[in-house]
Order: sequence, then C-alpha cells, then structure tokens
Amino acid sequence: MHDLFQYDADLTALNTFRLPACARTLLRLRTVDDARAFAAARHDDDPLPLILGGGSNLVLGGGPLAVVLKVEIGGRRKLGEDGDMVVVEAGAGESWHDFVRWTLVEGWPGLENLALIPGTVGAAPIQNIGAYGLEMAERFDSLTALDLGSGEVRQFDAAACRFGYRESVFKHAPGRWLVVAVRFRLPRRWQPRLDYGELGCELAARGIVVPTPLQVFDTVAAIRRRKLPDPAELGSVGSFFKNPLVDTARAAALLAVHPELPHYPQPDGRVKLAAGWLIERCGWKGRRLGSVGCHSSQALVLVNHGGATGADVLELAARVRGTVRERFGVDLEIEPVVIFDEEQ
Ligand code: EPU
Repeated sequence: MHDLFQYDADLTALNTFRLPACARTLLRLRTVDDARAFAAARHDDDPLPLILGGGSNLVLGGGPLAVVLKVEIGGRRKLGEDGDMVVVEAGAGESWHDFVRWTLVEGWPGLENLALIPGTVGAAPIQNIGAYGLEMAERFDSLTALDLGSGEVRQFDAAACRFGYRESVFKHAPGRWLVVAVRFRLPRRWQPRLDYGELGCELAARGIVVPTPLQVFDTVAAIRRRKLPDPAELGSVGSFFKNPLVDTARAAALLAVHPELPHYPQPDGRVKLAAGWLIERCGWKGRRLGSVGCHSSQALVLVNHGGATGADVLELAARVRGTVRERFGVDLEIEPVVIFDEEQ
C-alpha cells in the first residue's frame, strides 16, 4: 500500500477551514483491508492518529501531526428491507451529499433535510449531523468501526453510539474508532419533515404545498447556499458553536428582557437558544478580526478570509464567547473538533 503514503503532507487543502497544518505521515485508506493493515502494524505506544474525512468539522493548529488517516473507503448499497424500512449502507469515505442524493434517486427518501452538509458518511455519526428539522440519529441503523487500539472490528447500534445534540461516544475518543461503514434505516412510508420554520416558509414561497423528497432536498440546499459560505470560496466549518442549552429559569430571565430571542424548548425541560442571535446582538455579525471573522449572513459561522491560522480562529472564538458570556451570561461551547497538540 506504498502509493497510499505521503510524508510531510500539507493538510491545508484537506480541511474546509483552510487552516495550515502538516502531517509527518498521511495515509489514505481506500479499503477496509487498508484500515486493518494500519491497525495491525500500529504499536500500542504509538500516538493515536488524526482520522480525517472531509475535514469539515476540524480546527487544526499549525504544529505537525504524527499520523493522519484520510478515510476514502467507498461503496453504497441497499442491504435489504425490514418491515416498513429500507436499510442502506455506505462506506465511510463516501461524500455525504452525494450519498443523500443517491438514496433519493434510488427511491428511498428520508435523509433529504440533510442535503448539502459538507463531509463524509463516516463523519456524520461522529457529531450526529443535523439540520432543518432532522438529526442523522433518527435515520441511523448501525455502523462498523475498527478499534485502532486493539484492531478489533465492532458493530455499534444507536444506543452504543450515545447520540446527542452534535454528540456521540466517538467525539470523546478522537483517534480510537475508525468508522468504516454506516447503515441507515429509511422509511418506506415517507412523510416530509417540515417542522423547521424556515423550510416551510421557503417551500411556500416556491408555491409548493405537498413537496416531493427531491423538492425538500433542493429547497434545503438553496437555503444553505444562501446563508452559509461555500467552503470552496470561504473557509469555514459551518456552525462554530453549539446552540446553548439552558435551564427554564435562565431562559425565562433572558426572554423577559429579550422576547425576540429565538428559542426551542427541549423534551428534557431545557431550552435551546439561537447562538447566532446572541452573537449577532453582541455586534459580531460580519465583523473581522484580522484574517478571520463572523460570517455576514450567519454570525454562528466563523470564516477564514485568507491566510488565517488555527490560533487566529481560537482567538476570535474566545473573544466571541467572552462578549456573549458578559452580555447574556451564557457559555458557548465550540462545536468542531480542535486539534492543537503538536506531534499528536
Ligand atoms: N440568527 C440570527 N442571527 C444570526 C444567525 C441566526 O438572529 O446571525 C437567528 C435566525 O434568525 C433564526 C435562529 O437564529 O431565528 C436560528 O438560525 P438558523 O436557522 O440559521 O440555524 P442555527 O441555529 O444558527 C442550526 C445548526 C446548523 C443548521 C441550522 C438549520 C447548530 C450548531 N447549527 O444553526 O448546522 O444548518 O440550524 O437547521 O445547531 C452546522 O452544524 O455546521 C450547521 C450549519
């Protein structure tokens, strides 16, 4: 597998934030056997690698990383039907958006609200991607992952993944589990998911009353193109902070002063607040700090205007968090994975 190795590899083009970083060894994994061979050759005291999919949820520091695995395992297929569900599987390296489009073309709707999310199928469960009224966990069946510590292959069902809002068991053990394939359960009796206000409004504006799955897919993609930067033009990782969850008392106190604050009561009694609104109210929307800034259409998205480093991004993030904490008493949590240790 020697053609899969690259030494002192520049990672700038391999992360959507376009942050400079380098890998002492970059290894492309094209098959499950490549992944197994890597695990078998690894010594227990070797540092855990950085596992890279589309690099779209990552903040890289400048220091060299020892080993970076670029997951390029492809393949997608229908596994079977199970009562009211179709079960489909994709290799971890497949593009998420292309996979979603493929399921729709094949006639298996259910993932259309997650159109145009950058990144790979294998990365989707790591942060339980979600958008426009749907979280990936709701369509998840199971996944296969390789334990890079022991070399063991393990199947994870949804309970084992411990999904939460932009959360999973994998997010807390970076470098340990290499996801090789993910399976989804798609409903045969499809109903559109139009709970997210902006999606309903946009469909209505297009004169669509009962949308097809493809119309939902196209409409979500159009909203995303309008609001979020195109990673090919402006580096970013999408939302940089999670929408904060606060208790009812804190939410009531904030809403008494700011009744227009967008908020979403949760099943567990807590209330999710729109971080983008809080950040915009602090004056950050469209504002720059050197080569980084808050996006002009979505304050929750930090962008690289060109030449930024991971340190620049973290400095802006600290400033934004500081002003939001000071003004609203709310702590914002960083959403992407931050890799800053040299020779990790
Ligand atoms: N808002 C503002 N100002 C802003 C941004 C947002 O006032 O600068 C307000 C909006 O007007 C709206 C509310 O905040 O009332 C929510 O905004 P939006 O619909 O844009 O969604 P979001 O909560 O900011 C989340 C996800 C996105 C996902 C959208 C749509 C997180 C961290 N982000 O953003 O996911 O696309 O909802 O479902 O939950 C991502 O994770 O990278 C991502 C883009």
